[in-house]
Amino acid sequence: MTDHEHKSRKSRKTPEAAEAAAAPASATSPASPEDEKAEALRTEVTKADTSLTKPVDGAATGTATDAAVSDLTSSGTAPGEPVLSKEPPTAFLEVRDLRVHFPTQDGLVKSVDGLSFTLEKGKTLGIVGESGSGKSVTSLGIMGLHTVGQYGRQRPHLSGEIWLNGQELLSADPDSVRKLRGREISMIFQDPLSALHPFFTVGHQIVEAYRVHHTVDKKTARKRAVELLDRVGIPEPGKRVDSYPHEFSGGMRQRAMIAMALVNNPELLIADEPTTALDVTVQAQILDLIRDLQKEFGSAVIIITHDLGVVAELSDDILVMYGGRCVEYGAAEQVFYEPQHPYTWGLLGSMPRIDRDRADRLIPVKGSPPSLINVPDGCAFNPRCPYADVPKGGITRTTRPELSEVRPGHLSACHMAQEDRERIWNEEIAPKL
Ligand SMILES: Nc1ncnc2c1ncn2[C@@H]1O[C@H](COP(=O)(O)OP(=O)(O)OP(=O)(O)O)[C@@H](O)[C@H]1O
Ligand code: SF4
Ligand SMILES: [Mg+2]
Repeated sequence: MTDHEHKSRKSRKTPEAAEAAAAPASATSPASPEDEKAEALRTEVTKADTSLTKPVDGAATGTATDAAVSDLTSSGTAPGEPVLSKEPPTAFLEVRDLRVHFPTQDGLVKSVDGLSFTLEKGKTLGIVGESGSGKSVTSLGIMGLHTVGQYGRQRPHLSGEIWLNGQELLSADPDSVRKLRGREISMIFQDPLSALHPFFTVGHQIVEAYRVHHTVDKKTARKRAVELLDRVGIPEPGKRVDSYPHEFSGGMRQRAMIAMALVNNPELLIADEPTTALDVTVQAQILDLIRDLQKEFGSAVIIITHDLGVVAELSDDILVMYGGRCVEYGAAEQVFYEPQHPYTWGLLGSMPRIDRDRADRLIPVKGSPPSLINVPDGCAFNPRCPYADVPKGGITRTTRPELSEVRPGHLSACHMAQEDRERIWNEEIAPKL
């Protein structure tokens, strides 16, 4: 395997000066709007209602597995009616057969359709997949943020189990999940501008996020906010704490979001495309920062991105999503260096390369992601898969492949026989990597 571009990110260090120069001098916050609206913001931070379904009795489904990912094609429970298995969780985070289906006028959108994985503290799971594959819906599900009736929409049907530190969240009372949010589970959202409130200073928002979970006075909380802004590399944090989000550059806003996400030392941090819309240098800085902070805080981290190179660099394990399901899962080295699924081969082909001629390059995935309302029969990837006819008898178009172990700890959902996969890998894919 040749070096991919992402490898060079590892050694890049953070030139803070670039961001410092990009942002104008800090503003002093107007006294009145801050104080008047403080309570409003605090309520906003805490209120986000969830669509968690009713508590259930514990009928067994027997879905827990020793493998990190279980069979994702099992029919599971009826949407909206999670049934707890009696298997106790063995990992810090254990997601079992998670389904999030949105009823819409056009039909039921199966955004996440039977996803299972585990994650230990101090470890990082990378979730990778194209736009619309269900990555953010998964993370919002873990956060308990699939809000009831949001924007006039119907609430999604949720089923499965999400065990965090021995507590099942999907069937838990929404108040207890709300208390966990921000304190034990925290999220760096895809778009910092929509996650940071434009009316309030960055420092004020971090202070409020802290005070929701700690009974401390404003002065102590502000000290903590300055400390965190400093830790995430905001220059002159004592001044910038009073700046508004629009006064920060894109990279600084992303750092401010990270500071807000970390202010309560969460045990689980979900970073949803933390570097979208940032230039390559700032991306590398933010990724370095997340890695350093994870070491320091020992949290479990889920990092979500389109970029297989980024997850390979940061993660212990990688989960590849396609059409709301897991199609490949394994240790980062396995999935990145010896991928087993044709979709993952296509993702590798989509990675930018400057060291190869066009003719020598792997072909990126052609075509569009599948409809999540009318998911193709058989393997959801079959309309785009260059190898769809390799498995005999048209099985790829009639039967959905189960996720199964192809090597120890390495799972893939594909009908291809091992010898065909190895032949294609050795003759067509590996030589182009
Ligand atoms: N409230 C909703 N109602 C209906 N469909 C939804 C809703 N929220 C998400 N979806 C659909 O679910 C699918 C998965 O969305 P999701 O946001 O998880 O994608 P993603 O993998 O995070 O993509 P991206 O990489 O672009 O962020 C998409 O097809 C999206 O349109
Ligand atoms: S099951 Fe068939 S269509 Fe699906 S990835 Fe494998 S070869 Fe391609
Ligand atoms: Mg997303």
